[in-house]
Amino acid sequence: MQDKIKSLSAEIDQFKAAKLDELEALRIKYLSKKGEITALFTDFRHVPNEQKREIGQLLNVLRDKAQDKINELKDALESKQVSVAGVDLTRTPDLIPLGTRHPLSIVKNEIIDIFSRIGFTIEEGPEVEDDWHVFEALNFAPEHPARDMQDTFFIEQNPDVLLRTHTSSVQSRVMKAQKPPIRVLCPGRVYRNEAISYRAHCFFHQVEGLYIDKDVSFVDLKQVLLYFAKEMFGEHTEIRLRPSYFPFTEPSAEMDISCNLCGGKGCPFCKHTGWVEILGCGMVDPNVLKACGIDSNEYTGYAFGMGVERITNLKFQVKDLRLFSENDVRFLQQFQAAY
Ligand code: DAH
Repeated sequence: MQDKIKSLSAEIDQFKAAKLDELEALRIKYLSKKGEITALFTDFRHVPNEQKREIGQLLNVLRDKAQDKINELKDALESKQVSVAGVDLTRTPDLIPLGTRHPLSIVKNEIIDIFSRIGFTIEEGPEVEDDWHVFEALNFAPEHPARDMQDTFFIEQNPDVLLRTHTSSVQSRVMKAQKPPIRVLCPGRVYRNEAISYRAHCFFHQVEGLYIDKDVSFVDLKQVLLYFAKEMFGEHTEIRLRPSYFPFTEPSAEMDISCNLCGGKGCPFCKHTGWVEILGCGMVDPNVLKACGIDSNEYTGYAFGMGVERITNLKFQVKDLRLFSENDVRFLQQFQAAY
Protein backbone atom coordinates (compact mmCIF):
# COMPACT_ATOMS: atom_id res chain seq x y z
CA MET A 1 0.00 0.00 0.00
CA GLN A 2 2.81 2.42 0.86
CA ASP A 3 4.48 1.85 -2.49
CA LYS A 4 1.25 2.48 -4.25
CA ILE A 5 0.79 5.73 -2.31
CA LYS A 6 4.28 6.84 -3.27
CA SER A 7 3.81 6.14 -6.95
CA LEU A 8 0.44 7.91 -7.00
CA SER A 9 2.00 10.88 -5.23
CA ALA A 10 4.64 11.06 -7.95
CA GLU A 11 1.91 10.91 -10.59
CA ILE A 12 0.15 13.82 -8.93
CA ASP A 13 3.34 15.87 -9.21
CA GLN A 14 3.19 15.29 -12.95
CA PHE A 15 -0.47 16.42 -13.31
CA LYS A 16 -0.88 18.61 -16.36
CA ALA A 17 -3.98 19.83 -18.18
CA ALA A 18 -4.27 22.13 -21.18
CA LYS A 19 -8.04 22.25 -21.03
CA LEU A 20 -10.74 21.99 -18.40
CA ASP A 21 -11.99 18.64 -19.71
CA GLU A 22 -8.49 17.15 -19.44
CA LEU A 23 -8.47 18.26 -15.84
CA GLU A 24 -11.85 16.69 -15.27
CA ALA A 25 -10.49 13.42 -16.68
CA LEU A 26 -7.72 13.54 -14.05
CA ARG A 27 -10.22 14.12 -11.30
CA ILE A 28 -12.28 11.16 -12.46
CA LYS A 29 -9.20 8.93 -12.76
CA TYR A 30 -7.99 9.62 -9.22
CA LEU A 31 -10.72 11.06 -7.04
CA SER A 32 -14.12 9.95 -8.35
CA LYS A 33 -16.02 7.04 -6.77
CA LYS A 34 -14.08 4.59 -8.90
CA GLY A 35 -10.88 6.62 -8.85
CA GLU A 36 -7.49 5.14 -7.89
CA ILE A 37 -7.13 7.11 -4.65
CA THR A 38 -10.70 6.30 -3.66
CA ALA A 39 -9.90 2.63 -4.29
CA LEU A 40 -7.04 2.82 -1.77
CA PHE A 41 -9.51 4.09 0.84
CA THR A 42 -11.64 0.99 0.10
CA ASP A 43 -8.61 -1.28 0.52
CA PHE A 44 -7.75 0.44 3.78
CA ARG A 45 -9.84 -2.05 5.74
CA HIS A 46 -7.29 -4.81 4.86
CA VAL A 47 -4.42 -2.84 6.37
CA PRO A 48 -3.20 -4.48 9.60
CA ASN A 49 -4.39 -2.63 12.66
CA GLU A 50 -0.94 -1.56 13.82
CA GLN A 51 -0.32 0.22 10.47
CA LYS A 52 -3.75 1.81 10.18
CA ARG A 53 -2.76 5.06 11.83
CA GLU A 54 0.29 5.68 9.69
CA ILE A 55 -1.27 4.55 6.39
CA GLY A 56 -4.47 6.47 7.16
CA GLN A 57 -2.49 9.68 7.49
CA LEU A 58 -0.58 9.01 4.26
CA LEU A 59 -3.84 8.36 2.44
CA ASN A 60 -5.40 11.62 3.67
CA VAL A 61 -2.31 13.57 2.64
CA LEU A 62 -2.41 11.92 -0.78
CA ARG A 63 -6.08 12.72 -1.34
CA ASP A 64 -5.63 16.35 -0.24
CA LYS A 65 -2.57 16.70 -2.44
CA ALA A 66 -4.50 15.47 -5.50
CA GLN A 67 -7.42 17.77 -4.76
CA ASP A 68 -5.16 20.80 -4.17
CA LYS A 69 -3.26 20.16 -7.37
CA ILE A 70 -6.48 19.91 -9.36
CA ASN A 71 -7.83 23.16 -7.84
CA GLU A 72 -4.58 24.91 -8.59
CA LEU A 73 -4.60 23.80 -12.23
CA LYS A 74 -8.25 24.81 -12.54
CA ASP A 75 -7.58 28.34 -11.29
CA ALA A 76 -4.66 28.69 -13.66
CA LEU A 77 -6.74 27.46 -16.60
CA GLU A 78 -9.64 29.79 -15.85
CA SER A 79 -7.55 32.92 -15.54
CA LYS A 80 -5.72 31.89 -18.72
CA GLN A 81 -9.03 31.57 -20.53
CA VAL A 82 -10.00 35.12 -19.50
CA SER A 83 -6.74 36.63 -20.66
CA VAL A 84 -6.71 34.59 -23.88
CA ALA A 85 -9.98 36.15 -24.89
CA GLY A 86 -8.56 39.57 -24.04
CA VAL A 87 -11.64 40.29 -21.96
CA ASP A 88 -11.82 40.39 -18.21
CA LEU A 89 -15.01 38.49 -17.56
CA THR A 90 -14.84 39.26 -13.87
CA ARG A 91 -14.98 43.04 -14.37
CA THR A 92 -18.18 44.87 -13.45
CA PRO A 93 -19.94 45.94 -16.64
CA ASP A 94 -19.74 49.51 -17.90
CA LEU A 95 -22.75 51.61 -16.98
CA ILE A 96 -25.18 51.88 -19.86
CA PRO A 97 -25.34 55.56 -20.80
CA LEU A 98 -28.79 56.85 -19.91
CA GLY A 99 -30.79 58.88 -22.38
CA THR A 100 -32.33 62.18 -21.38
CA ARG A 101 -35.92 63.28 -21.37
CA HIS A 102 -36.93 65.58 -24.19
CA PRO A 103 -37.28 69.21 -23.01
CA LEU A 104 -40.86 69.32 -24.31
CA SER A 105 -41.69 66.23 -22.24
CA ILE A 106 -40.06 67.74 -19.18
CA VAL A 107 -42.19 70.87 -19.50
CA LYS A 108 -45.36 69.00 -20.44
CA ASN A 109 -44.96 66.78 -17.38
CA GLU A 110 -44.44 69.83 -15.20
CA ILE A 111 -47.62 71.45 -16.53
CA ILE A 112 -49.53 68.21 -15.92
CA ASP A 113 -48.10 67.99 -12.43
CA ILE A 114 -49.13 71.54 -11.54
CA PHE A 115 -52.73 71.05 -12.66
CA SER A 116 -52.99 67.54 -11.21
CA ARG A 117 -52.37 69.04 -7.80
CA ILE A 118 -55.64 70.96 -8.07
CA GLY A 119 -57.73 68.09 -9.33
CA PHE A 120 -57.35 68.10 -13.12
CA THR A 121 -57.21 64.69 -14.79
CA ILE A 122 -55.66 63.86 -18.15
CA GLU A 123 -57.62 63.23 -21.35
CA GLU A 124 -56.21 62.56 -24.78
CA GLY A 125 -57.80 62.48 -28.21
CA PRO A 126 -56.83 61.44 -31.73
CA GLU A 127 -54.46 63.51 -33.89
CA VAL A 128 -56.40 62.54 -37.01
CA GLU A 129 -59.76 64.16 -36.41
CA ASP A 130 -62.98 65.15 -38.14
CA ASP A 131 -64.28 68.64 -38.88
CA TRP A 132 -66.96 68.46 -36.22
CA HIS A 133 -64.61 67.98 -33.23
CA VAL A 134 -61.97 70.45 -34.41
CA PHE A 135 -64.18 73.21 -35.79
CA GLU A 136 -67.92 72.82 -35.90
CA ALA A 137 -68.61 71.88 -32.27
CA LEU A 138 -66.25 74.68 -31.26
CA ASN A 139 -68.39 77.34 -32.95
CA PHE A 140 -66.15 78.03 -35.95
CA ALA A 141 -68.17 79.67 -38.71
CA PRO A 142 -68.31 77.63 -41.94
CA GLU A 143 -66.06 80.13 -43.71
CA HIS A 144 -63.59 80.57 -40.84
CA PRO A 145 -60.06 80.94 -42.25
CA ALA A 146 -58.66 78.24 -39.91
CA ARG A 147 -60.61 75.71 -41.98
CA ASP A 148 -58.65 76.77 -45.02
CA MET A 149 -56.18 74.39 -46.69
CA GLN A 150 -53.54 76.99 -45.92
CA ASP A 151 -53.79 76.28 -42.22
CA THR A 152 -55.13 72.78 -41.96
CA PHE A 153 -53.70 69.53 -43.28
CA PHE A 154 -56.46 67.43 -44.82
CA ILE A 155 -56.01 63.75 -45.42
CA GLU A 156 -56.47 62.59 -49.00
CA GLN A 157 -58.42 65.71 -50.00
CA ASN A 158 -61.29 64.65 -47.76
CA PRO A 159 -62.58 67.81 -46.03
CA ASP A 160 -63.80 65.72 -43.12
CA VAL A 161 -60.55 63.94 -42.26
CA LEU A 162 -57.85 66.25 -41.03
CA LEU A 163 -54.95 66.63 -38.63
CA ARG A 164 -56.16 68.55 -35.60
CA THR A 165 -54.95 72.13 -35.53
CA HIS A 166 -55.44 72.49 -31.79
CA THR A 167 -56.09 70.33 -28.72
CA SER A 168 -59.42 72.11 -28.24
CA SER A 169 -60.80 69.16 -30.24
CA VAL A 170 -60.37 67.06 -27.10
CA GLN A 171 -62.73 69.50 -25.32
CA SER A 172 -65.53 68.58 -27.70
CA ARG A 173 -64.82 64.87 -27.25
CA VAL A 174 -64.80 65.08 -23.46
CA MET A 175 -67.94 67.22 -23.27
CA LYS A 176 -69.78 64.80 -25.56
CA ALA A 177 -68.70 61.79 -23.51
CA GLN A 178 -68.86 63.04 -19.91
CA LYS A 179 -71.31 64.85 -17.69
CA PRO A 180 -70.25 67.88 -15.60
CA PRO A 181 -68.41 68.42 -13.35
CA ILE A 182 -65.60 68.11 -15.88
CA ARG A 183 -62.08 69.12 -14.98
CA VAL A 184 -59.56 67.91 -17.54
CA LEU A 185 -56.16 68.69 -18.99
CA CYS A 186 -55.52 67.59 -22.57
CA PRO A 187 -51.91 67.50 -23.75
CA GLY A 188 -51.07 66.57 -27.31
CA ARG A 189 -49.50 67.23 -30.69
CA VAL A 190 -51.17 69.50 -33.22
CA TYR A 191 -50.49 70.27 -36.89
CA ARG A 192 -50.65 73.41 -39.01
CA ASN A 193 -49.64 74.02 -42.56
CA GLU A 194 -46.85 76.49 -41.80
CA ALA A 195 -43.53 77.06 -43.52
CA ILE A 196 -40.86 75.69 -41.16
CA SER A 197 -38.55 78.33 -39.71
CA TYR A 198 -36.85 79.07 -36.42
CA ARG A 199 -40.15 80.32 -35.03
CA ALA A 200 -42.81 78.16 -36.73
CA HIS A 201 -43.19 74.46 -37.38
CA CYS A 202 -45.79 72.29 -39.07
CA PHE A 203 -46.34 70.41 -35.83
CA PHE A 204 -46.10 71.50 -32.23
CA HIS A 205 -47.62 70.71 -28.85
CA GLN A 206 -50.40 72.17 -26.78
CA VAL A 207 -52.01 71.63 -23.43
CA GLU A 208 -55.69 72.38 -23.17
CA GLY A 209 -57.58 72.89 -19.93
CA LEU A 210 -61.33 72.65 -19.43
CA TYR A 211 -63.49 73.08 -16.34
CA ILE A 212 -67.30 72.80 -16.50
CA ASP A 213 -69.54 72.93 -13.45
CA LYS A 214 -72.31 74.98 -11.87
CA ASP A 215 -71.40 78.62 -11.13
CA VAL A 216 -67.94 78.62 -12.70
CA SER A 217 -66.92 82.22 -13.37
CA PHE A 218 -64.07 84.22 -14.87
CA VAL A 219 -62.74 84.71 -11.33
CA ASP A 220 -62.10 80.95 -11.06
CA LEU A 221 -60.27 81.03 -14.39
CA LYS A 222 -58.07 83.92 -13.36
CA GLN A 223 -57.23 82.37 -10.02
CA VAL A 224 -56.23 79.04 -11.57
CA LEU A 225 -54.08 80.74 -14.18
CA LEU A 226 -52.34 82.84 -11.54
CA TYR A 227 -51.64 79.68 -9.56
CA PHE A 228 -50.22 78.04 -12.69
CA ALA A 229 -48.00 81.01 -13.58
CA LYS A 230 -46.50 81.17 -10.09
CA GLU A 231 -45.91 77.42 -9.90
CA MET A 232 -44.35 77.32 -13.36
CA PHE A 233 -42.29 80.52 -13.38
CA GLY A 234 -41.82 81.39 -9.72
CA GLU A 235 -43.62 83.06 -6.85
CA HIS A 236 -42.91 86.62 -8.10
CA THR A 237 -44.58 86.08 -11.46
CA GLU A 238 -47.47 88.41 -12.27
CA ILE A 239 -50.17 87.88 -14.87
CA ARG A 240 -52.35 90.15 -16.97
CA LEU A 241 -55.33 89.27 -19.13
CA ARG A 242 -56.00 91.11 -22.39
CA PRO A 243 -59.35 90.85 -24.19
CA SER A 244 -59.14 88.65 -27.28
CA TYR A 245 -61.29 86.54 -29.56
CA PHE A 246 -61.68 82.78 -30.00
CA PRO A 247 -64.80 81.25 -31.56
CA PHE A 248 -65.22 78.79 -28.67
CA THR A 249 -64.98 81.20 -25.73
CA GLU A 250 -66.95 84.28 -24.74
CA PRO A 251 -65.49 86.43 -23.32
CA SER A 252 -62.01 85.47 -24.49
CA ALA A 253 -58.62 86.62 -23.29
CA GLU A 254 -54.93 86.17 -23.82
CA MET A 255 -52.71 85.91 -20.81
CA ASP A 256 -49.29 87.47 -20.41
CA ILE A 257 -46.84 86.83 -17.60
CA SER A 258 -44.29 89.30 -16.35
CA CYS A 259 -41.13 88.59 -18.35
CA ASN A 260 -39.23 85.93 -16.44
CA LEU A 261 -35.91 87.02 -17.95
CA CYS A 262 -35.86 90.68 -16.92
CA GLY A 263 -38.43 90.44 -14.13
CA GLY A 264 -40.71 92.89 -15.95
CA LYS A 265 -38.17 95.70 -16.41
CA GLY A 266 -38.04 95.26 -20.18
CA CYS A 267 -35.51 93.40 -22.33
CA PRO A 268 -35.13 92.27 -25.97
CA PHE A 269 -36.90 89.00 -25.14
CA CYS A 270 -40.13 90.74 -24.09
CA LYS A 271 -39.58 93.44 -26.73
CA HIS A 272 -39.10 95.90 -23.88
CA THR A 273 -42.71 95.56 -22.73
CA GLY A 274 -42.00 93.58 -19.55
CA TRP A 275 -44.69 91.04 -20.55
CA VAL A 276 -44.77 87.85 -22.59
CA GLU A 277 -47.87 86.12 -23.90
CA ILE A 278 -48.29 82.49 -22.86
CA LEU A 279 -51.85 81.33 -23.47
CA GLY A 280 -55.39 81.89 -24.70
CA CYS A 281 -58.41 81.39 -22.50
CA GLY A 282 -62.01 82.32 -21.82
CA MET A 283 -65.45 81.21 -20.70
CA VAL A 284 -66.75 78.34 -22.80
CA ASP A 285 -69.23 79.77 -25.32
CA PRO A 286 -72.81 78.55 -24.63
CA ASN A 287 -72.99 77.45 -28.29
CA VAL A 288 -70.16 74.98 -27.60
CA LEU A 289 -71.88 73.60 -24.51
CA LYS A 290 -75.12 73.18 -26.50
CA ALA A 291 -73.36 71.49 -29.45
CA CYS A 292 -71.85 68.97 -27.05
CA GLY A 293 -75.11 68.24 -25.22
CA ILE A 294 -74.50 70.21 -22.02
CA ASP A 295 -77.28 72.45 -20.66
CA SER A 296 -75.86 75.97 -20.90
CA ASN A 297 -78.50 77.33 -18.50
CA GLU A 298 -77.31 75.01 -15.76
CA TYR A 299 -73.59 74.90 -16.42
CA THR A 300 -70.79 77.31 -17.21
CA GLY A 301 -67.11 76.67 -17.65
CA TYR A 302 -63.74 78.01 -18.63
CA ALA A 303 -61.09 76.79 -21.04
CA PHE A 304 -57.50 77.65 -21.74
CA GLY A 305 -54.88 76.48 -24.19
CA MET A 306 -51.12 76.93 -24.25
CA GLY A 307 -48.22 75.97 -26.49
CA VAL A 308 -45.69 73.66 -24.85
CA GLU A 309 -42.88 74.96 -27.10
CA ARG A 310 -43.64 78.50 -25.98
CA ILE A 311 -43.49 77.63 -22.29
CA THR A 312 -40.32 75.60 -22.89
CA ASN A 313 -38.69 78.56 -24.65
CA LEU A 314 -39.54 80.78 -21.71
CA LYS A 315 -38.03 78.30 -19.27
CA PHE A 316 -34.94 77.34 -21.26
CA GLN A 317 -34.50 80.12 -23.87
CA VAL A 318 -34.38 77.79 -26.83
CA LYS A 319 -34.08 80.21 -29.76
CA ASP A 320 -34.84 77.88 -32.66
CA LEU A 321 -38.01 75.75 -32.66
CA ARG A 322 -36.50 73.31 -35.14
CA LEU A 323 -34.11 72.01 -32.47
CA PHE A 324 -37.05 70.30 -30.76
CA SER A 325 -37.58 67.91 -33.64
CA GLU A 326 -34.05 67.31 -34.91
CA ASN A 327 -33.10 64.67 -32.33
CA ASP A 328 -29.60 66.05 -31.92
CA VAL A 329 -28.36 64.43 -28.72
CA ARG A 330 -25.96 67.32 -28.08
CA PHE A 331 -29.01 69.56 -27.74
CA LEU A 332 -31.08 67.04 -25.81
CA GLN A 333 -28.35 66.21 -23.29
CA GLN A 334 -28.29 69.80 -22.10
CA PHE A 335 -31.56 69.15 -20.28
CA GLN A 336 -30.18 66.28 -18.20
CA ALA A 337 -30.22 68.29 -15.00
CA ALA A 338 -33.70 69.71 -15.52
CA TYR A 339 -35.76 66.86 -14.10
N1 DAH B 1 -57.09 76.58 -29.44
C1 DAH B 1 -56.39 77.84 -29.35
C2 DAH B 1 -55.25 77.86 -30.33
O1 DAH B 1 -54.88 76.83 -30.83
C3 DAH B 1 -55.85 78.04 -27.97
C4 DAH B 1 -56.96 78.29 -27.00
C5 DAH B 1 -57.42 79.56 -26.76
C6 DAH B 1 -57.53 77.25 -26.32
C7 DAH B 1 -58.44 79.83 -25.88
C8 DAH B 1 -58.56 77.49 -25.41
C9 DAH B 1 -58.99 78.79 -25.20
O2 DAH B 1 -59.14 76.50 -24.72
O3 DAH B 1 -59.98 79.00 -24.33
O4 DAH B 1 -54.72 78.90 -30.59
